[in-house]
Amino acid sequence: MANPDPEFVTFLKSYPNYPTTHSLDELRANEYARLDLGGHIYLDYTGGGLYADSQLRRHNKLLSERVFGNPHSSNPTSQAATQLVDHAREYVLKFFNADPDEYLAIFTSNASGALKLVGESYPFPNGRYLLTFDNHNSVNGIREFAHARGAEVTYLPIMLPDMRVDEAQLSRELSQPSKSGHNLFAYPAQSNFSSVQHPLAWIEEAHQHGWDVLLDAAAFVPTNQLDLGQVKPDFVPVSFYKMFGYPTGVGALLARKEALEKLQRPWFAGGTITVASVQGDKYYLADGASAFEDGTIDYLNIPAIEIGLKHLKSVGYPVIHERVCSLTGWLLDSLASLRHRNASPLVRIYGPMTMQERGGAVTVNFYDRDGRALDHRFIEQKANELNISLRTGCFCNPGAGEVALGISRVELDVCFTQPGHEERLTVDDFRHCIDGKSSGAVRVSVGMVTNFNDIQGFLAFARRLLA
Ligand SMILES: Cc1ncc(COP(=O)(O)O)c(C=O)c1O
Repeated sequence: MANPDPEFVTFLKSYPNYPTTHSLDELRANEYARLDLGGHIYLDYTGGGLYADSQLRRHNKLLSERVFGNPHSSNPTSQAATQLVDHAREYVLKFFNADPDEYLAIFTSNASGALKLVGESYPFPNGRYLLTFDNHNSVNGIREFAHARGAEVTYLPIMLPDMRVDEAQLSRELSQPSKSGHNLFAYPAQSNFSSVQHPLAWIEEAHQHGWDVLLDAAAFVPTNQLDLGQVKPDFVPVSFYKMFGYPTGVGALLARKEALEKLQRPWFAGGTITVASVQGDKYYLADGASAFEDGTIDYLNIPAIEIGLKHLKSVGYPVIHERVCSLTGWLLDSLASLRHRNASPLVRIYGPMTMQERGGAVTVNFYDRDGRALDHRFIEQKANELNISLRTGCFCNPGAGEVALGISRVELDVCFTQPGHEERLTVDDFRHCIDGKSSGAVRVSVGMVTNFNDIQGFLAFARRLLA
């Protein structure tokens, strides 16, 4: 049915392909009705995806009809669990078009768990860890393993206004790997701060200079196809709830077998060994993914991963991608045009203003008519009152946040060396220290079942802040 809203008509003029995504409106009505029944405007898909009702039904049916036991045995219920986990593992590889001779899928509890597996096991001594400013804290955190084991840690800056990397500088760094150690380069396929999609072509360039590549795909894969037949990163962490909402608590490390062989696990655990001896003080790691899956894996939820991936596949990335691009493009255009009566802008947008190599999150700060920033916590509180779910803060991406918000190294050093703050610094202490500057921003992110009304609802909210 045609939407008579004149703004919708204007939107369609700019984004004429939007109607080709109509199947997503039906999907939302049939599978995500709780969104509209609850009057929700959900705009935190980069925080977490949403599940379809049918995912729950399918999973529930499986659990209620069958009996599954701990897969670390060979009894019938154990074998039943093993079979489903094996199937899910194969399907994960198939979904990402990863050759099973080349890649392994290791189940973890989330993307951070996958990143920690790499960080704690990577042979850092005498090597280098190169990473972009634009990274999630779980990638930043790997630098602690790198420092502890004597690797040189180098951050590649990102530049305003688009918050992309200077590629000449990247090429210079990549051309100088350590000759006496291993080299790991880590970056996100899509930023969880600015939504910049950093080039996948960097993977091959890094490989040519002997680097291993950790591609953080957590924010990319919910709305973009990652084809591991085309690009060959060594380590790819993902969190499945970000892709299809349910279940939480399961992620994966997709890893090239060749690169995995370099990893040195710092310990062994139940499930990761073939033989371990107390008196002999010896252990032998298991082969394949098992060597990296500590203890009992989440064997009841892992089958729901296959269900979720099949759901995502049946909806199809092309249609999701089209919808995300149309709605995000409209959101960017509309936000940029909002002006107070004295013509000063309502928002400052961090990151690219067009949909070129960019995903579906828009990060902004709001300003009053005199150009003073409105606290992101105030914006969140006002949005909450209208049942709008968005995300505020720095989204665990402090490097992008510091660049966007203009917080300098010197200011940070001052804060971190204040008396009494050698060991402890709360967010409020930090805010006080960078006095007058924003310490965070507001992120609006669109996903599989976002519709035009969600965006209009958010824009109506934003307009209420005009003076
Ligand atoms: C780009 C990126 N990497 C890693 C993570 C960490 O994911 P998780 O919290 O599920 O471990 C996130 C989560 O927001 C993310 O956006």
